[in-house]
Amino acid sequence: EIIHLEDYRPTDFVLERVDLTFELDPSETKVEARLIFHRREGVDARAPLVLDGDELKMTSLLLDQDEIPSANFDAADHSLTIRGLPETAPFEITITTELSPQTNTKLMGLYRTSDVYCTQCEAEGFRRITYFPDRPDVLAPYTVNIIADKATAPLLLSNGNYLGGAGMGDGRHFAAWFDPHPKPSYLFALVAGDLGIVEDTYTTLSGRDVALKIYVEHGKEARATYAMDALKRSMKWDEDVFGREYDLDIFMIVAVSDFNMGAMENKGLNVFNDKYVLADPETATDADYANIEAIIAHEYFHNWTGNRITCRDWFQLCLKEGLTVYRDHEFSADQRSRTVKRIAEVRHLRAEQFPEDAGPLAHPVRPVKYREINNFYTTTVYEKGSEVTRMIATILGADLFKQGMDLYFDRHDGQAVTIEDFIACFAEVSQRDLTQFSLWYHQAGTPLVTASTSYDAGQQTLTLSLEQMVPPTPGQNIKEPMHIPLRVGLLLDDGAEVTITGVTGAEVTGDVVHLVERKQTVVFSNVPSRPALSLNRGFSAPINLHFEQSSEDRAHIARFESDLFARWQALNDLALPNLVSAAASAKAGLPVECDAALVEALLAAAADEALEPAFRAQALALPSEADIAREIGGNNDPDAIHSGRQQIMTAIAAAGRQIFTTLVERTADTDAFSPDAASAGKRALRNAALSYLVYAENVPGRAVKAFDAANNMTDLSQALTILAHRFPDAPETTTALATFKQRFAENGLVLDKWFTIQATIPGSAALARVKMLMDDPLFNGNNPNRVRALIGTYAFSNPTGFNRADGEGYRFLAEQILAIDARNPQLAARILTAMRSWRSLEDGRAEHARNALREIAAAPKLSPDVSDIVERMLKG
Ligand code: ARG
Ligand code: ZN
Repeated sequence: EIIHLEDYRPTDFVLERVDLTFELDPSETKVEARLIFHRREGVDARAPLVLDGDELKMTSLLLDQDEIPSANFDAADHSLTIRGLPETAPFEITITTELSPQTNTKLMGLYRTSDVYCTQCEAEGFRRITYFPDRPDVLAPYTVNIIADKATAPLLLSNGNYLGGAGMGDGRHFAAWFDPHPKPSYLFALVAGDLGIVEDTYTTLSGRDVALKIYVEHGKEARATYAMDALKRSMKWDEDVFGREYDLDIFMIVAVSDFNMGAMENKGLNVFNDKYVLADPETATDADYANIEAIIAHEYFHNWTGNRITCRDWFQLCLKEGLTVYRDHEFSADQRSRTVKRIAEVRHLRAEQFPEDAGPLAHPVRPVKYREINNFYTTTVYEKGSEVTRMIATILGADLFKQGMDLYFDRHDGQAVTIEDFIACFAEVSQRDLTQFSLWYHQAGTPLVTASTSYDAGQQTLTLSLEQMVPPTPGQNIKEPMHIPLRVGLLLDDGAEVTITGVTGAEVTGDVVHLVERKQTVVFSNVPSRPALSLNRGFSAPINLHFEQSSEDRAHIARFESDLFARWQALNDLALPNLVSAAASAKAGLPVECDAALVEALLAAAADEALEPAFRAQALALPSEADIAREIGGNNDPDAIHSGRQQIMTAIAAAGRQIFTTLVERTADTDAFSPDAASAGKRALRNAALSYLVYAENVPGRAVKAFDAANNMTDLSQALTILAHRFPDAPETTTALATFKQRFAENGLVLDKWFTIQATIPGSAALARVKMLMDDPLFNGNNPNRVRALIGTYAFSNPTGFNRADGEGYRFLAEQILAIDARNPQLAARILTAMRSWRSLEDGRAEHARNALREIAAAPKLSPDVSDIVERMLKG
């Protein structure tokens, strides 16, 4: 069944209050839901109340405490319909259901993880707890009573403020919670169990004292202190930058080890995948610390963008997700290095969102139809949604953007709204017509902008010709031109920048050129000599750019741009054509040539002490194999791409051997570990240099030394990665893998790194390795993190290992998807999207991929999640 945006209408009944009582038991939990409704004005007096449900066992149904006669209700698989309800007066429906949390393997609704009861309700999990109008535009205050065995569940948590609790004299106890803020059911949460706690307090801008509590498994408390620090910084930042304060007496975070996604912003009670809470130097990498900081912030920021102001329907998901990702990106940029953060964002966008937008799963940031909403928690909704928000800020400028946000918070607090409501706030404060701009929400596909320049020395003008094209995507063949904000810089020979004045052919605000037509010719005057044009500075628009530019100009930008992101981009632009031709040479069996300008520019950046180490590390990281595949566009041979890239790496390594040796030896980490961005940047640079140096030396010695000397997980896992990926069969690697495994056998999250490092070893032997690792007693096929770490990374992040020419990788994945789907459809559907770019493979591989997808599609029992993905992949 397909749901369409145009079919939206409000519910017939208004929900006034929710009162829930849980009697928790692993296999026989009893839930009583008391719901007060009244008929919405103007609704037919005979219209029935229709509630959503999913796999529910209902044991009783009352209207104002009287049993409802069976003639007056129908309980179907996915709905409960009740007739004969009062015409205007409010009434109370009481529903009793019985659940078995311990057999709930979908991890949606109420389930058990390591003996803890926990819930996940977004998007449609609440209907697995009780019959309910389970949609985001139904808001109500909730009272929650929890009853459980006191010995095994001393902790009873739900949303809002704690009302009280007591023992019940029979080994059980209860607790009551009240959340005064009307909320949709997807923000409901309940946690019960025996957990350790880290506590702190925060005083808000207006003087409210908030108790902060992070709950983790006993013994892991010390690993939650960084998350607590990140939380306090997030609360302060949202006050400082967006003027947003917290609004309850308590804010809780619970870390659980079985979770389908990263985390969940339930009101006052965030539930987290423990991967994004737990960190210490011994077990967490710098990337883990950065993720924890970003996700703690993300979920906290949802309190205003998502919870106080929520979505009218699930088509509006980007209203909360795109905006909240934008907010967490800005937070991390302020806490760390803005440039390095931007580089990481753009790398991620290109690696994940661009392929989605270019393949069969492409969809608009604000879709108009879906079959399974869980499949729309995508990088398009999240990351492209964030970029669209960023473009609003770029087009309006910081002041008007802030005014627009303030108006949005003011006008829509307590409401469930749409993207149109959001855009209207910015149109109003800026007096700009944002109709064309809103196409970013409605047209799928990454726009392609083609640019060329010519300089007229006599006129002292630079002419920039721009042309845009939005590629066709499933269901959208014809596209309108978009409003594309392109930040530009004109760099003269000495690196000085031309002041932008007297531009014709486009609106220009500051350094932003507004491309709004299909074709536009922009003339910059008073340009004293031919400049190098830096285009789409800061990645001001999420586009593909085809700009034929000389290597000299690119090297010039890499050296002189004041926007450091643009310097990194220029290095990338230098490298990419070289990597593409390297792949072609490798495929043809010809020698691979490495561009001297590229080597020179990379090494200059690497050695430039004036630049921050984290930036230099980013400069050294060549475009990935997936980036190269995307640039080539089609008929891809992952083996050739890999081999070409390896040869370029080797050439750079040989040329820079001296520099890399110095970097490795001089930046040796002797200080006590600190997770701050500057220290992390030093580690990143040293490890990047180490990786090149090992290429140059072609023996494992340095990596073994680094492995043995490592005093933190970043260095340890980097050394292990170099060993395993460069020398998979060396005895040194076998020893290091065994040492690592033994040392961290008790720690699932660290074992995930061990699984991932091996699952991503390039080459066709990866498949046998993955199969062997699945049989390892430390692998647990029921834990989503383990499954993603081994099977997920094999499919997503091992281009040569997964895309075997014989198609065995795809056949293996098909088998795994079916097995996972039987337990956890959401997890299966997510991992299956690893095949989203199958059509851009060369014919032989593409044929194998198609057959594997058909095999999945033909399976007798498929979840809606997997069948939606597989059908779109075969069709689009
Ligand atoms: N709202 C959560 C977040 O972004 C993610 C929920 C994902 N839900 C899902 N059904 N996939 O923080
Ligand atoms: Zn979110």
